[in-house]
Amino acid sequence: MCGIIGYIGTRPATPILIGGLKRLEYRGYDSAGLALLEPKSILTYRSVGKVAHLVEKVRLNLTPERQNELTVGIAHTRWATHGAPTEANAHPHYDKSRRICVVHNGIIENYRTIREKLQAKGHKFDSDTDTEALSRLIGECYRGDLRKAVINALRQIEGAYGIAVLCADEPDKMVVARKGSPLVIGIGEGECLVASDPSALVAHTQRVIYLDDGDVAVITPDLVDIRNLDDEPIERNVSELGLDVGAVEKGGYEHFMLKEIFEQPETVRNALRGRIDLKEGTAILSGMNATPAELAEIARIIVVGCGTSLHAGMVGEFAFEDVAGISTEVQQAAEFRYRNPIVDRNDMVIAISQSGETADTLAAIRKAKEKGTKVFGLVNVVGSAIAREAGRGVFIHAGPEISVASTKAFTGQVAVLLLMALKLGRTRRLSNEDSLKLAQEINRLPELVEYVLKQNDAIAKVAERMAQSDHAFFLGRGPMHPVALEGALKLKEISYVHAEGYHAAEMKHGPIALLTPGVPVVVLANHSPVLDKVWSNAEECKARGARIIAVVTEGEPKTDLADDTIVLPPCSPLVATIPAAVALQLLAYHVARLRGCSIDQPRNLAKSVTVE
Ligand code: G6P
Repeated sequence: MCGIIGYIGTRPATPILIGGLKRLEYRGYDSAGLALLEPKSILTYRSVGKVAHLVEKVRLNLTPERQNELTVGIAHTRWATHGAPTEANAHPHYDKSRRICVVHNGIIENYRTIREKLQAKGHKFDSDTDTEALSRLIGECYRGDLRKAVINALRQIEGAYGIAVLCADEPDKMVVARKGSPLVIGIGEGECLVASDPSALVAHTQRVIYLDDGDVAVITPDLVDIRNLDDEPIERNVSELGLDVGAVEKGGYEHFMLKEIFEQPETVRNALRGRIDLKEGTAILSGMNATPAELAEIARIIVVGCGTSLHAGMVGEFAFEDVAGISTEVQQAAEFRYRNPIVDRNDMVIAISQSGETADTLAAIRKAKEKGTKVFGLVNVVGSAIAREAGRGVFIHAGPEISVASTKAFTGQVAVLLLMALKLGRTRRLSNEDSLKLAQEINRLPELVEYVLKQNDAIAKVAERMAQSDHAFFLGRGPMHPVALEGALKLKEISYVHAEGYHAAEMKHGPIALLTPGVPVVVLANHSPVLDKVWSNAEECKARGARIIAVVTEGEPKTDLADDTIVLPPCSPLVATIPAAVALQLLAYHVARLRGCSIDQPRNLAKSVTVE
């Protein structure tokens, strides 16, 4: 949440900052702002709403000639935590002298105390933000050396931050620091950048340094000097991004979400690449870095995550229990971190996160480690905090996911969870024959996803009727229960339709009271041992006038229960979760499009949640 971009070099900073903000906009879009270093002062522009508003403001106030002269700046796109999304609360924030300017991602937890202390000293705050407490504190600590002032201020701060700071009296540098919120430095030829994530850097450089918690860096056009909070020098490696600009552009699609849905045959293939042993019927997951003895002693698996990642974990629960015979539970990461969980060294905690930044998931990992449990990360973003904190695990290799509503990350996560289950199952209860069969099925996942994508036009038609309703239900059993939850989540996130996901058998225990004639009920009626039960549950809804949208398996006997049908390719119930999820993503996408919603940036949401 919140995106930061900074530039110091010889090129005009404004278009680079604006371009970076557009790439980072998915992280928050309540307001945006930028600060540019002038020879003796700092110029700022801020505006409410999307980056486009800021662009217009800059265009009206700053001539291209002036822009060309300003080659150092920082910028921010905000997801409001403290204070409403107003211009006054938009970043950057000044210190008292207005010679220091700060952009910040995170939450300063003790900001009230700092604010009161500063107010007692005569500070008059311009905003309701926690960030302004920090910018003013840095100003209070300033004695002619920006780095020292930032360090002194940060030592008084509790909470999370990724910050970039400019000072009008030290125009040759920018100071950046992180704790809990991501920050990556991009190194160019005679220029440096800093950003909340690499997508804002790819257009300029492939060489990056990921900062770690507690790092404070002074950045000049040709130098990066990293210190810790004791002002001692720190060495950090320069990595190659290996990303191209195309990966963070829409590539001809109307929305990132649609592009990412259609990328899934490829992203699932990437998640599986080199990891399936079709001869032995097992998976090769070297990142898990676990000895056979370690894997053999796992008595229980606990999966932690939030949002869509949590739903992927719930599919994983079925896979680990059915395939590997390992008792598994799934916990919301925020719950796990505070509930004093009962875990020990024979347990295995799997933390799932697309962004690798989610504050609660990160804290859950730390909690699990404290308890001496084995921890594995299942992450998309390489170099992210969760990937580093977990230390070992599996990357899903889905590439940058820009749409706020997660799609390709979910299918990548489930694909890897299936591989993990296969690997664990192979050494436990799975027969040779069953292992080979499952390995082959997982290997076919890219084509199973293609099968669903070919129904895009038909699904768009189904969405036409669905888009007229303000309510919807999604029902499933077994591994399709979490898919129903995910389908409902997708719909509510991007179309603002009130959608409920339920276990199909649970519907009659209360939610059925909400059914009125014509309400769409999406029933995951794929081939499975409980298919008859699912149909009975659908029947109960139909009897109350619901419109049934059935997601069925090709070749299953036809039923006249369904008003609309989406077809899945023949495959086992566990593997079918992936094509079924893709079908529901498309359904949600088309409903949201027909309802004219802001699909890639739904209201109130943010892509990565770095606050509790
Ligand atoms: C936010 C996003 C969701 C995501 C969740 C967990 O709420 O909007 O799409 O599923 O965070 O994020 P993570 O990056 O940990 O998977």
